[in-house]
Amino acid sequence: MLRQEQHAVLPQSSVNEQARQDFLNQLGKHVLNEITPGNSAAYQRRVLPKIKAEKGREPESRHEIRKEMVRDPYYQMTSSFQRTVQEMMWNSVDDTIQRQLPALIATAKTIREGETLGSLHLDPNFEIPPYIADNDHHCMPGGYSGDLVDDDITAGALYDKGAFIYTQGLFGPRMDGIGKATALMIARTFPDLKPQKILEIGCTAGGSTTGLQMGFPDAELHAIDVGPSVLRYAHARAESMGVAIHFHQMNGEAMTFDDASFDLVNCPASFHEMSRSAVYNVFKEAFRVLKPGGVFLLSELPPYEGADPWTQFVRDWDTYNNNEPFWGALHEMDFADVAEAAGFDRSDYWQGTGPGIAEANQLTGAVEVQNKKFMGSTRGGGQAWYAHMTKRTA
Ligand SMILES: C[S@@+](CC[C@H](N)C(=O)[O-])C[C@H]1O[C@@H](n2cnc3c(N)ncnc32)[C@H](O)[C@@H]1O
Repeated sequence: MLRQEQHAVLPQSSVNEQARQDFLNQLGKHVLNEITPGNSAAYQRRVLPKIKAEKGREPESRHEIRKEMVRDPYYQMTSSFQRTVQEMMWNSVDDTIQRQLPALIATAKTIREGETLGSLHLDPNFEIPPYIADNDHHCMPGGYSGDLVDDDITAGALYDKGAFIYTQGLFGPRMDGIGKATALMIARTFPDLKPQKILEIGCTAGGSTTGLQMGFPDAELHAIDVGPSVLRYAHARAESMGVAIHFHQMNGEAMTFDDASFDLVNCPASFHEMSRSAVYNVFKEAFRVLKPGGVFLLSELPPYEGADPWTQFVRDWDTYNNNEPFWGALHEMDFADVAEAAGFDRSDYWQGTGPGIAEANQLTGAVEVQNKKFMGSTRGGGQAWYAHMTKRTA
């Protein structure tokens, strides 16, 4: 089984804790690969005939399918399994963190107060936006902005260690696969772009940010997030890996960076956690801080458009069952419109499947696990890494 690479603030599991976490990893895989696919049979045998009989036609949207599927006992059972495994997984990681929390906080503080490569800028007056403050995303206890004790690092540790389990190692032993895939995509698409200054919006524990640094080792790297705990953790983690990153507690909707100050802005898997108006605001800010000729890249799972209603329903599981309230709305947004509203030229907008996180990781020798089949996005896996890119031409 692929193991996460140790660094100074990664909570260390005891033998018993590791066994519990491995069990939950395998249980999650079993539920997704062996049990949830039975929903297709439930749909074909019970739900689809009912919809057809009532409407005299095939279902036209995922909403019509969902209305009936939520009443089906097989769907109820599998959703309950998935949700329960997800909660058990986070709790198993949280126990490991809480057992060693004072030591982890002290390590992060020692790193912060010593000689550092990068920096950490927290804002004591910062207001966490409600779409983050009021929700425990993907059932992660405390969400992204939990900050319960002085100098807390729990949210960062939870994400780093828990997301490694629920993505089944897909992001790689350093959790940096999204960053590596992004760097690869930029290098392939814009070979002449040699970014001197890069900004990442929504860095969480800094996994994607360190991956980005591997692709552009000479660039000055800045990363923002809204939660103080994730940022303290991300900073200590990056320093212990020898990577210089400047972390800032900042809202991507209203950044304090100067106009035209970055060559590349990256928003890795973060828009699906934001409200619709926030997505528009962050795009506007990305346009503002980009230099002419600079590129904005965002990555998410593929949009729903073009997928049949059943596939859309399957992909939409997280919206209703995994505390991802913006998931469905995000995956049906037209980013060309959003980009245009932000000031980008529509003809500079591109979307499509990127090199993929697994491919990017294989380049550095870490072959990842993929799910055979799955219901919903939980536990990452199979769906392709998908990018939206736009260049600021003027
Ligand atoms: C799914 S996580 C990103 C994962 C991370 N990029 C990685 O690959 O490891 C989404 C992050 O976006 C952050 N976020 C959401 N809204 C934000 C905003 N308006 N400004 C800055 N960060 C934001 C959340 O706090 C969260 O840490």
